[in-house]
Amino acid sequence: MEGEVGPAGQSGVPPFMPDPEAKQHALEDFARYVNPQKVRILRAAGLDIIEAYREGPWVWDLDGRRFLDCFTSAGSFNLGRRHPLVVAAMHEAVDRLDHGNFMLCSREKADLARKLAEIAPGDLSCVAFGTGGGEIIDFALKLCRGATRRTKVVSTVNGYHGHTGFALSAAGRKAYRAPFEPLMADFVQVPYGDLPAAEAAIDSETACVLVEPVQGEGGVVVPPVTYLPGLRGACDAAGAMLVVDEIQTGFGRLGTWFACEHFGVVPDVITLAKSLGGSLVAISAAVFTEDLREFLIPNPFIHLSTFGGSDLACAVALAAISVMEEEGLVEHSASMGRILQEGLASIAADYPDVVAEVRGIGMMAGLKFGEDSMGARMSAALVRQGVLAIYSANEPTVMRLMPSLVVGPEEIELLLRAIRGALDEVVDGATAPRPGTVDSATASGGSTGRPARPRRRPPRVGA
Ligand SMILES: Cc1ncc(COP(=O)(O)O)c(C=O)c1O
Repeated sequence: MEGEVGPAGQSGVPPFMPDPEAKQHALEDFARYVNPQKVRILRAAGLDIIEAYREGPWVWDLDGRRFLDCFTSAGSFNLGRRHPLVVAAMHEAVDRLDHGNFMLCSREKADLARKLAEIAPGDLSCVAFGTGGGEIIDFALKLCRGATRRTKVVSTVNGYHGHTGFALSAAGRKAYRAPFEPLMADFVQVPYGDLPAAEAAIDSETACVLVEPVQGEGGVVVPPVTYLPGLRGACDAAGAMLVVDEIQTGFGRLGTWFACEHFGVVPDVITLAKSLGGSLVAISAAVFTEDLREFLIPNPFIHLSTFGGSDLACAVALAAISVMEEEGLVEHSASMGRILQEGLASIAADYPDVVAEVRGIGMMAGLKFGEDSMGARMSAALVRQGVLAIYSANEPTVMRLMPSLVVGPEEIELLLRAIRGALDEVVDGATAPRPGTVDSATASGGSTGRPARPRRRPPRVGA
């Protein structure tokens, strides 16, 4: 088989020449020049995968193994990997554009801003651009502080918004913040989904509440249906802004363009990144109200970014949105999400001792396990089953499943079968673990333990 070139999407024959030696070199160089501990941790978790060929919902590693990508860089590949129409749009854009002059106005920025205003919920019609998620969260918080002349920011325990200054100050995980303290002043955190706690924190000093509509890294936590509307009400009463971080949940993930629509709420700001770039470019955006924009009108140069909303990235993002519209991907996501959630519910019913809960909405799903080590062990087992999935960074008991939205019922079926296979493997220890994986370090040595007890805590992906 090695060396044979076959059509993409056909299991067994990789559509490129596998190169395990190149993989070893990449891992060695990464360890030497970037971080050896990252390599050790990923290896122990069975995730020492070097991505090679990428197409649609699939990715192949340098060993020639094919995976259904169910991590999708935490929701960055809603359109699948290298969607041909987005690739073509990028080729076309590269022939005539570069990143552009950030001090000038640009046609591409204006076109994308108009489109974002068109698809954003309610009266959100003003746009600012960035390169990544953290940067645009920083912008959104600065905008709210500047516009309200207040400083307090309320965010949530276990929330994740990136690693830049303001975003890190709002991070819900202490391990990310602790080495860099003191961070920004006047950031407070309340338990996620707890409306009375949020209401108690939101006061006349509050510039904004920053919240994920469904917590991603926090373990695919869906709040009560009254939560976001309740936050909207509390913010309105206090004159505070509501910032909804749609960086993971946006662009059709929950079966609506944006998750806040699912909850019937129009915030003051939504933040977008990840899938906005159509899997090819780095771009982020905040979409906000005209009222908030008042602050920026006399201060048009108060937030600058050389590469934020580059001409090239805007052209690609615009193409990505057009493809989503033309292919009806939001509606498709809603129907695939129903199949996925039903399949997961039936798995939970069949493995009641192991699966504590099915979480999520639509194509943002999670399996919550009863014990800490299960997320890591399931990642490793799923890799052996041909599925790339990584548990939630802030909640390792939850296996997050976020396939690209271009999957069909066959791929969902394949994913559900792989999960059953992985559960059997982890629970019964049916398959001999590969050397160097979490399983080899934690195997119980017997097949009667349900689930098998780890000998030591597996390494954690993330800080
Ligand atoms: C909800 C959410 N907000 C913000 C970010 C930060 O985005 P970036 O990594 O592009 O800075 C992420 C990244 O995973 C995220 O999931």
